[in-house]
Amino acid sequence: MRTLSGIQPSGKLHLGNYFGYVRPNIEWHKKADVGMIMIADLHALTTMRDPALLRSSIEDMMLDLLACGFDPAKTILFRQSDIPEHTELMWMLSTMTPMGLLERAVSFKEKVEKGIAASAGLFNYPVLQAADIVLYDIDKVPVGKDQQQHLEITRDIIVKFNNAYDDVLVVPEGVIKEDVAVVPGTDGQKMSKSYGNTIPLFGSEKEIQKAIMGIVTDSKGVAEPKDPESCSVFNIHKLFLSKTETEELAAKYKAGGLGYGDAKKLLFTAYMDTFGPMRQKREELQKKPQDIQSVIDEGTKKASVVAKATMAKVRKAVGLR
Ligand code: ADP
Ligand code: TRP
Repeated sequence: MRTLSGIQPSGKLHLGNYFGYVRPNIEWHKKADVGMIMIADLHALTTMRDPALLRSSIEDMMLDLLACGFDPAKTILFRQSDIPEHTELMWMLSTMTPMGLLERAVSFKEKVEKGIAASAGLFNYPVLQAADIVLYDIDKVPVGKDQQQHLEITRDIIVKFNNAYDDVLVVPEGVIKEDVAVVPGTDGQKMSKSYGNTIPLFGSEKEIQKAIMGIVTDSKGVAEPKDPESCSVFNIHKLFLSKTETEELAAKYKAGGLGYGDAKKLLFTAYMDTFGPMRQKREELQKKPQDIQSVIDEGTKKASVVAKATMAKVRKAVGLR
């Protein structure tokens, strides 16, 4: 199995990214023949206009991912913009992509509604994503539900391309992470940097404490029995717990006697127990930027070999030199 997933460097990693993206991908890579994580910095250009911010976000993302435990021996970690074949293949694919297919893309419409400029790049975003995937003969792409349509567009483009030119590309399968929970944010909606309701992975201890203590709850007093299922503190806390521990905590909620303040303190402790070692690792990595660069260099080298081979096949298939 060859698997790849991309992430845009558009903000610091939060708890939702960890449980919904990082941890499942680390697990996937343990059983994959090839596991790739791509920092989608060319995609980020569709929404980010500040060069200094983009540069530092890419660096932060590399640090965050390595600190979270991607093993460079198992995972090929690289920046999209280091491999020029992504944009070259995107052009080839775009000549085969019906406008109507892209016009139906929900994420384009949503972004434009949010006020993002409707550039040709934003419109072509799914074509670049298709190139990211087929450049590496990827058969499985683990994505969340929000990326399902992009995967379907990829498949449509590649089937069309293969029909026109001798099946040169691998049609990928999307693997929707049904078993991965949607992590709620501090306000109970889906945790997302665009809602400003995140709990960061690597912020200062104070920042994390403030975010956790700020999780919105109802106003039940300490002694009152509480409903765990509808409580964001509980729903976040259970991500850190085994099945038995979750049941024990739920029983405490239902019995009454556990106030929300104390429930949040318990969550903070669980948070630090889990992320403490990663936070320490990040601090150490930050002191050794050359080590991070060498992981990226190694990843880029491996990715580049495959990307070049695919492009040679594609150029030949379409009739170019
Ligand atoms: P954000 O919503 O903060 O902008 P992204 O869209 O950049 O996050 O998501 C990066 C990855 O993290 C995606 O694979 C996405 O599915 C996952 N992810 C983001 N937020 C959550 C969440 N609240 N719960 C589960 N997974 C999430
Ligand atoms: N569009 C994806 C997101 O916003 C990021 C991405 C870029 C990606 N290229 C990819 C995901 C290739 C999977 C495969 O989350």
